[in-house]
Amino acid sequence: LFTECEHICIVACGTAMHAGLVAQALVKSILHMHIEVQMASEFMYSDPVIDEKTLVIAVSQSGETIDTLEAMKYAKNRGAKCLAIINVKGSSIARESDYVLYTNAGPEIAVASTKAYTTQLAVFYLIVARMAHSRGVFDDAQTQSFVRELQRTPEVMKKVLERRRDIHVVAKKVLGAKDLFMIGRGLDYSILLEGSLKLKEVSYIHSEAYASGELKHGPIALITQDTPVVATVTQEKLMSKELSNIKEVKSRGADVVVFIKESIVGDLAKEYEIFTLPDMQDEFMVLPASVALQLLAYYVSSDKGFDVDKPRNLAKVVTVE
Ligand code: G6P
Repeated sequence: LFTECEHICIVACGTAMHAGLVAQALVKSILHMHIEVQMASEFMYSDPVIDEKTLVIAVSQSGETIDTLEAMKYAKNRGAKCLAIINVKGSSIARESDYVLYTNAGPEIAVASTKAYTTQLAVFYLIVARMAHSRGVFDDAQTQSFVRELQRTPEVMKKVLERRRDIHVVAKKVLGAKDLFMIGRGLDYSILLEGSLKLKEVSYIHSEAYASGELKHGPIALITQDTPVVATVTQEKLMSKELSNIKEVKSRGADVVVFIKESIVGDLAKEYEIFTLPDMQDEFMVLPASVALQLLAYYVSSDKGFDVDKPRNLAKVVTVE
């Protein structure tokens, strides 16, 4: 399955789709393969180009999201091989799929997905390691070192959790906001799409994740002292461009909170409200960053007096199209 496919297509909704976006970046940079991520609800209407050489990966916590299930059936009918990444054992998507990988996150009670997301990421890292090895991109030593870095995740996430009070402090900067932007590039942008969804789901702040380079093509017009900006800076090769985008929003009056990889923080704390993320290799930094952004949403919501686990209008399992 992993050696023969020529093209990967990920179908999913909401947070599961955001996990797919991280996978897309990894697959392109490490495996150099064609991959696309599609919102399951749009998939069938986008005339997807799929055939027997396509590996379709459906991602779903519940395994019951009807749009994802229908997208997978559609792909299967056109000859694609289907792999499902699922949390709930024996669910509809798991049963319909050719292959299943379970995330084993345990029951997720809160409506907003958290541990389901981080375990979906972990499964994608493992898929990338296996594919890289079986396709000859990684030798044994490279595969082992990639997996060893992944195995550091619990220790690194624990460090973020231990520093949660510092996240509570930065959360106060965005508490009063009506509108907010989250900016970053590359993997930082992918992680912010999820961080922004989390914040709007549980705090009801209108939050938009934007690729920082795209800001100047419109949204910069909306930046004022009343629109705080959350930025992530975790990718060394993108850092200087990201910092210049952060300067641009600051010069328009925005309060900026920066989640930055510890080893590259320099003296940035003099200018901005900072939360430092414990170091991992750059391609793994989404893991500590995701927990930090989940905690940001958590503190904003709970400080506003909302029920973090049961946001209004949302359902944990969505079985309507
Ligand atoms: C709902 C949930 C989200 C979830 C999405 C997809 O909107 O509130 O947290 O990401 O459905 O659900 P799934 O079960 O397919 O991952």
